[in-house]
Amino acid sequence: MVIDIDNVTKSFRVGSGFFLQGRKKIFALDEVSFHLRENEILGIVGESGSGKTTVARCILALTGIDEGRIEIHGDDIQSASRQKRRELRNHFAIVFQDPAANLNPRQRVKNSIMRPLILKGVSQKEANKKAVEAMEKVKLDARYLQSFPHELSGGQQQRIAIARALVLEPDVMILDEPTSALDISVQAQILNLLLDLQEEMKMSYIIITHDLNVIRYVCDRVVVMYMGRVVEIASMKEIDENPRHPYTRMLLESSPVLDPRDRENRDIQEIGEAKYIYNPTSCNLVGRCPHESDICSQARPPLEEVQDDHFVACFLQK
Ligand SMILES: Nc1ncnc2c1ncn2[C@@H]1O[C@H](COP(=O)(O)OP(=O)(O)O)[C@@H](O)[C@H]1O
Ligand SMILES: [Mg+2]
Repeated sequence: MVIDIDNVTKSFRVGSGFFLQGRKKIFALDEVSFHLRENEILGIVGESGSGKTTVARCILALTGIDEGRIEIHGDDIQSASRQKRRELRNHFAIVFQDPAANLNPRQRVKNSIMRPLILKGVSQKEANKKAVEAMEKVKLDARYLQSFPHELSGGQQQRIAIARALVLEPDVMILDEPTSALDISVQAQILNLLLDLQEEMKMSYIIITHDLNVIRYVCDRVVVMYMGRVVEIASMKEIDENPRHPYTRMLLESSPVLDPRDRENRDIQEIGEAKYIYNPTSCNLVGRCPHESDICSQARPPLEEVQDDHFVACFLQK
């Protein structure tokens, strides 16, 4: 296992007020468990606010957790020493949604790509060579090494961000909404590039997105999150052909439906940002689920394996 996340809870206090009691406690992650396998492309999908970015930050130990355990190749990163954490982070590369956030606007592309290498003590000459190689990998002409980020298109900037992520030869890439800021056609190009690179370099990916359709043709497995909880985990094929959780079906149906007659048969409501209503003793989907029954508001559905390698947290799926 490359990453093993076991029962992780992460809360935040939000709102103002001198007294802690006056502030609301929200659970960005609520007993979250899943793992990343070797050479796998894992999607994490859910609406805005479901806890996806927080998971990524916890995996990298950029933020602490309240409870649970996160292992990177068997090592607990959250309770590791600073030195050990740094070592464990060397396994990772991260690419964010906003191309601008990945690159320093005042630095030529070349310097941005070389910087992580120089920081690691690699010589200028060697770093230069690696920068040129990285450009080849992301299929960009080496002349763009001399450009500034603002001179490039969004797609080119994301390619550079990926090139920069690759120079340290990570075995895991975490991509947080890597294509959300791009046009549809460019999105597909970047996803294809990621697929090629994964094959060539034998990496594992975690691709985070709010749009299940974006990762449909890319992911091996999918973790579906809703308001800090994992509601379903299965292979992409299973999710496509046999989605078991009502929320997963909502996400699938939130894609544009081309045949207008199909709209009538849709299960549900609008999709967008999950409204935070925390109830520790009920399913988080109560009030929004078309199938709910009494038990849904009396207890929390645990995540259970309903089929081989297919996990669902829903009482109605037993
Ligand atoms: N630093 C923070 N302080 C307070 N609340 C936060 C913080 N980071 C995230 N949250 C809250 O945690 C929840 C999950 O956020 P996030 O992980 O960013 O979701 P996503 O990436 O799925 O949109 C949201 O309700 C968000 O407002
Ligand atoms: Mg996010």
